[in-house]
Amino acid sequence: MDVVIAPEDELGEIVADEIATLFAARPDAVLGLATGSSPLRIYDAVAARVAQGRLSLARARGFMLDEYVGLAPGHPCRYSTVIDQDFVSRVDFAPGAVLGPDGDADDLDAACADYEEAIRAAGGVDLQILGIGTDGHIAFNEPGSSLASRTRVKTLTAQTREDNARFFDGDVDTVPRHCLTQGLGTIMEARRIVLVATGDAKAEAVAQLVEGAVSARWPATVLQHHRRVMVLVDEAAASSLELADYYRDTRTHRHLVS
Ligand code: GLP
Repeated sequence: MDVVIAPEDELGEIVADEIATLFAARPDAVLGLATGSSPLRIYDAVAARVAQGRLSLARARGFMLDEYVGLAPGHPCRYSTVIDQDFVSRVDFAPGAVLGPDGDADDLDAACADYEEAIRAAGGVDLQILGIGTDGHIAFNEPGSSLASRTRVKTLTAQTREDNARFFDGDVDTVPRHCLTQGLGTIMEARRIVLVATGDAKAEAVAQLVEGAVSARWPATVLQHHRRVMVLVDEAAASSLELADYYRDTRTHRHLVS
């Protein structure tokens, strides 16, 4: 794992550099897109580069991680609406280039299977952007998720519904109880993964992710088995890392490999 501890306002640019490098080599690359507040700084940085003509996503494809069950298309909290506002409408994706699992489908299991097939048909995800929940979930893979799981229906924890109530006018009762989410096994197939976390509420989850034992109790720990993961955190999110000084040192004395 490449652990980068940097000021919050630098995290977006660091990931935008990675994305720019990817698209310079492969203009039709496939991005994995996360919702939530953590990736916003990345989307801002990428949107700025697209506006300046320094980067184009015109040939890119995008796959979202997850979606609430039961929110109709256009619902302001539906993740497809959120990602459109936060990112897709601000860059130059071709129409229909970004897909998400359909949490409003009549047959949710079929929607999950179709989504897995769509990712496969696109050749898989080149670079997956992730946030992390305070309980260590990635996408909506709550504690107890199989480390080999695929896209499926999950029940959200009370903690996640409380954390996300801020997007539902603070009313936890209106946060759906169920979601569709890419599985941990699905996410692990991305060729490259970049996870961003800020703030002290994420410190324990980040410490488990980087230094804890791999366990379904902290689902993000599965990423320890991935060969190309970058974990970007600010000082607050890094505050429970035992080896923080070592991670800082590795960045200062970087051994560049091709
Ligand atoms: C939600 C999303 C996750 C996200 C997490 C953290 O539960 N399903 O993909 O990583 O929230 O969100 P935030 O970045 O807003 O803290």
